[in-house]
Order: sequence, then structure tokens, then C-alpha cells
Amino acid sequence: MKEIMIHDIIKNRYSTRAFSEKTIGKERILSLFEAARWSPSSRNEQPWRFIAATKEDQATFNKIAGILNPTNLMWASKAPLLILTIAKLNINSTDQINRHAYHDLGLAIANLTFQASSFDLYVHQIGGFDQQKAREKFKIPANYDPVTVLAVGYKGNLELLPENLRIRELSERKRKDLSDIVFSEKFGKTTNLIDNKKLELIINENNYTQSR
Ligand SMILES: Cc1cc2nc3c(=O)[nH]c(=O)nc-3n(C[C@H](O)[C@H](O)[C@H](O)COP(=O)(O)O)c2cc1C
Repeated sequence: MKEIMIHDIIKNRYSTRAFSEKTIGKERILSLFEAARWSPSSRNEQPWRFIAATKEDQATFNKIAGILNPTNLMWASKAPLLILTIAKLNINSTDQINRHAYHDLGLAIANLTFQASSFDLYVHQIGGFDQQKAREKFKIPANYDPVTVLAVGYKGNLELLPENLRIRELSERKRKDLSDIVFSEKFGKTTNLIDNKKLELIINENNYTQSR
């Protein structure tokens, strides 16, 4: 069965917990943010903001690590770069709620993530952190919302992970079928673009766990 094509930088991405402590060069780090900066956004509002630290800036790195839930902290603190992502919630010119703020921050993070993939860097997004602590520690204004922390780094040795994390790392990656998410005519109606029988075979072959 012919594979449905996707780009290698998408195919090879996954949320690793096994980070190497190898540092990331400054130019590469800047490329990540430059990729984020060139993302599209509603009204070109660019509602994304980032607080970033490598281990060179130990104080800020520890401050970001200090807002993570304990299970996330266990693996994320090995990553050489942590980034707190923040959405600006109001529109610059009208001060009304920007209902696309989170969407657009997500786009910027996607761009950053795929730029990272192109350098063989891995990005693991984290929602499990204390938002209130983040607000206080980083003096984030009320019209901004801390949304995720990104752990970024090269892939490390899976054998060094505690067993519970290693099992999660190696477990099968699952996704909804295309027929459950792509519709035509009305919500929930599978599009003719998708032949369910063929799709089942293709999806079974494409679980993209090879790179681990
Ligand atoms: C907004 C967001 C929040 C997430 N929060 C966590 C988290 O707190 N801890 C964690 O281990 N993974 C977290 N993840 C990673 C997801 O669990 C992961 O992306 C998902 O299981 C799919 O796996 P994959 O990224 O390897 O394809 C988060 C991902 C996103 C996009």
C-alpha cells in the first residue's frame, strides 16, 4: 500500500522525554525564534511572546523549571533550553479580546518546532505547569497568558530514562483516523477523498515510531 506522503521533519518529530544535555548553538536558537516570528497571525497581531533560557542563564532556567509539575520537571530539566510561551490576549488597536491569540501562538510554536526538527532538535510542549506561579515569577501583565513551556534539545539516551518514562517514550503513538477529522457536506460526514478500507491499511503502516 502506498504511503500518504508527509515531510520528514513532520514524520520524525515526536515529544521526547530523553534529552541530551548537549548545548544548542546561539545561532540555532535564534533561528527557532525567527521561524516563530514569521508565522501568520490574525490581523498580523503577532500575539506570541517567549521567555527563554539556556543553562548559561541558570537563574532564569531554574525559574522556568521551578514552575513545572514534578513529573514534567523530571525529564524537562535535562533539556538545554526551556521556553515559557505567552499569548497576548487583546488586540493592539481596539483592546478587544483577540479570539485567535492561542491559535496564533500555536502556529508560532509549530513553526519553531519544525525549524527545530530541521536541526534534529526536539521540542516537547508542556501544559503541566503552575500558571499562577509563572505570572508572579515573571511579572506577566494581566492581558497576557502563560500557555506552555517548551523543552528543547537534542535526543539523548533512552536507557538513561527512569523505567516509567522509558515505557511511555516507547509506547505506540496513536492518532484519530483521517475519516474522523476530515468531513464534507456537513459535520461528521466523511469526505469522498478518503477510502476507509485503503486508509486502514495505510494508517497501520504509518505510525512513525521508527525514529525512536
Ligand atoms: C499544549 C500541549 C501541552 C502538553 N502538555 C504536556 C505535559 O504537560 N506533559 C507531557 O509529558 N507532554 C505534554 N504534551 C505532549 C503531548 O502529550 C504529545 O504531543 C502527544 O501525546 C502526542 O505525542 P507526540 O508529540 O509524540 O506525537 C503537551 C502537548 C501540547 C501540544
